[in-house]
Amino acid sequence: MELREFFPAGLFAGKTVFVTGGGSGINLGIAKGFAALGANIAICGRTQAKLDGAAKELEALGAKVSARAADVRKPDELNAALSACRDTLGPVDILICGAAGNFLVPAEKLSPNGFKTVIDIDLIGSFNAARLAFDQLAQTRGSIIFISAGMAHMPYAYQLHVGAAKAGIDRMMQNLALEWGPHGIRVNSIVPGPIAGTEGMKRLGGEDHERRGGLGVPLGRMGAVEDIAKAALFLSSPVADWITGVVLAVDGGSGLAGSANFNASAAALLAAQVR
Ligand code: HXC
Repeated sequence: MELREFFPAGLFAGKTVFVTGGGSGINLGIAKGFAALGANIAICGRTQAKLDGAAKELEALGAKVSARAADVRKPDELNAALSACRDTLGPVDILICGAAGNFLVPAEKLSPNGFKTVIDIDLIGSFNAARLAFDQLAQTRGSIIFISAGMAHMPYAYQLHVGAAKAGIDRMMQNLALEWGPHGIRVNSIVPGPIAGTEGMKRLGGEDHERRGGLGVPLGRMGAVEDIAKAALFLSSPVADWITGVVLAVDGGSGLAGSANFNASAAALLAAQVR
């Protein structure tokens, strides 16, 4: 990652970054960005083996790492991971709430438990992480970034559950920015566009999108994990120290183009699955 061309190498030296869902994908990419700029990293997720692999990648970048399995739906597990982080790396300066679950399903086939599961992971899991990290963040006068999605701001077909959860996240983000500003805590969201090579793309028909070279993205290409990492680094840096309560779309302009391309790719993927 060439981040040191854009940011000073020690920008986050001595800082502790806690990333939920940090074992893979966009979240691991964000964690690696912070590690490359001197931060120490705590990651949690459901699968210890996945976290252990990610920890090795982060350590290779020079970070001290705390990698402890915790499901964001389970406050006790999350509390244990946050305590382990504080004990080994120091209190959290930057919290990234990235853990998410997703699948394509037509609304009339979405079961009550399927809807609840995504609300539990994305919305309630993000609340749990922010709420349980509050004492540490108040101590460091830290910041929070929620990983939202375009579905929060525009309907995407077969994504009712995700849209409801992510819209909730973006409203919660603003509420926390309002209430926790006086504690010195900044709170923002990032809305990633289509990011090549991620689990989300695979699940949502994005491989078709990738084959077509980012069709419907005004800037003419799919995103890379590093595009999201750069935005997270900016929002967490002193350069952004008067920015709170914003939703930053990092999507090559794709939110401007509507959801029609997504809806077509997703419909094709669902049709292929029933065949
Ligand atoms: C319909 C489904 C389903 C599917 C699960 N369910 N998959 N319904 N279509 N494909 C339903 C189940 O039937 C069940 O309801 C309920 O959801 C819970 O399913 P479980 O498998 O028991 O849940 P769990 O083991 O907790 O798994 C959570 C999960 C899973 C979300 C369902 O997919 C997961 O763990 N995902 C994590 C990884 C992931 O999704 N990453 C991508 C994030 S991308 P019933 O009624 O049968 O009990 C992302 C990007 C968004 O978020 C924006 C992109 C642009």
